Amino acid sequence: MGSDGNMTMPMGDNSMPMPSGPATPIASFKAPETAAQTKNFTLTARTANVKIGNQTIEALTYNGTAPGPTLRVQQGDLVVVKLVNTLSEGITIHWHGVAVPNSADGVAGVTQNAVKKGETYTYRFIAKDAGTYWYHSHQQSNDQVKRGLFGMLIVDPKQPAEHDDVDAALIYHDWSNAGKDTSGNTIEKTVSTSHIQARPGAWVHLRLLDTDNDQHMATLIGAPFTVTAMDGADINKPQPLSESILSVGSGQRYDLRFQMPAQGAVRLVEVDDKGKPTDGISAIIGDGNAPTALHNANPPIFDFTHYGQSKPDPITADTHFDNVNTMKLDSHFGFFDGSFGSVYTINGKSFPDIPPITVKEGQLVKISIINEGTSVHPIHLHGHDFSVLSRNGKKVTGSPIYLDTINIQSKESYEIGFRADNPGLWMDHCHDLDHASHGMDMMVVYP
Ligand code: C2O
Ligand code: CU
Repeated sequence: MGSDGNMTMPMGDNSMPMPSGPATPIASFKAPETAAQTKNFTLTARTANVKIGNQTIEALTYNGTAPGPTLRVQQGDLVVVKLVNTLSEGITIHWHGVAVPNSADGVAGVTQNAVKKGETYTYRFIAKDAGTYWYHSHQQSNDQVKRGLFGMLIVDPKQPAEHDDVDAALIYHDWSNAGKDTSGNTIEKTVSTSHIQARPGAWVHLRLLDTDNDQHMATLIGAPFTVTAMDGADINKPQPLSESILSVGSGQRYDLRFQMPAQGAVRLVEVDDKGKPTDGISAIIGDGNAPTALHNANPPIFDFTHYGQSKPDPITADTHFDNVNTMKLDSHFGFFDGSFGSVYTINGKSFPDIPPITVKEGQLVKISIINEGTSVHPIHLHGHDFSVLSRNGKKVTGSPIYLDTINIQSKESYEIGFRADNPGLWMDHCHDLDHASHGMDMMVVYP
C-alpha cells in the first residue's frame, strides 16, 4: 500500500484498512446546532486489570473499566467528550450508530489521525435521536475492541413513552478473543451470568449490545416481551413475543421491555440453532426460580421485517430512489495484505479496491445487499441510519425499521434506503471486525 510508506494507512492501522489519501484529516468541523445542554465527559484510555470470571486480563480500557463507563445524556444535548490517551498505541472513539458530524466519527486515517500517547482529541456532537448506542476505538479496531476499548452510550428521550422501573444493559463480549490472561493462559470462553434486580410486577427495559464478532441468538424465558427498539430506533407498536429468538448481530442493539411475573425470575439465554439454551452469556432478572428451558419446543425466529405496526414513512420499498447500488458479499482464500487466509469481498473486490458509493447531499440512496457467501455479515454504515425496505425480495410490512447495522445471514438479501443528509467520508463495512480487517470495507462519499 502507499509507496511512501505513509499513505494508505497513515496511522499504521493494519487491522481496519483505510483508503489511500492525505494523512491529514479531511473532514471539516460542522458547527453544532443549538443544544439543550452541554454534557462533558473525559475518557482516559489506559491499561487496567479486569476480572473475567476467575481470570484477570490486562485490558485496554476507557477510565479503567471494560466495558468503559456508560455515558448517559438527554436527547438534544451537546455531547463533548475529551479523549486522553495514555496507551502506547494510537486510538480513537467512534460513536457507533450516532449521526455525528464527520469530524467526530473517529475513523483513524479518514476523519482524524489516531490519538497517540500523550495526545487528546475532543469529540462534539448533538445527541439528536434517543436510543441505545455504543462507542469503541476505530484504530486497529479488530484488536482494540476485543481487548476492551468499548462502552455504551444511552440517549434518553425528552419525553419517555413509558415508565420503566428497571433500566439495565447486557453487553455481549467474548473475552476469549482478547489474548492471554495475566498468567499467560488463554481466557476461557466467557460463560457469565449476571443478575439484574427487579421486583415482581416491575417493568424492565433491557438493552442488549453485541460487541463481538459473532452473533448471539438470544431469548427471554419466563415473561412475554416486546422489542421496543433496534439499533436505537423505536419500533411502532411492537407486539408481545413469547420465546422468539433474536439474532443479535455484531454491533447491533436490541431494546426489550417486559413485566416481571408475580413470582420467580426471568432468564435471558443464548440458544443454539435448535432453540436449546447454551452456556453462553446470560442474565437472571429478579429473584426466585428462573426457568432454564424454553416451553416452546420450536421457538419462532424473530422476523423484524414483519414486526410492529406500519405507519407512513418517507423511505420504503416503493420510494423512488435517486441513487441505486448493489453490494454482493463473499469470501475466498487468497492473499490479503501479504498473508494467506480468508479474503472478504464486496462485488468481488476487497479493500482498498472497492469503488466507493458516491452520493450527493439530499439524494435518496438505495443499496441492495446480497450475501453470496457462507458466513454472516453484519454490515454497518457510518453517519446515517437506513430504512430496511425488503428482505429476500419481500417488502417490510410492519413498522418502519431503521438500523445502522444489518445482520445478513448466508444467502440472504436485503434492500436498504437512506437519505444522504450528512456530508463526509463514511465507512460502510462488515462489523465482524475480522472480516473488516480482511477486506470487507468500503466508503460512502459525498463529493
Ligand atoms: Cu462500530 Cu466502523 O464501527
Ligand atoms: Cu463479514
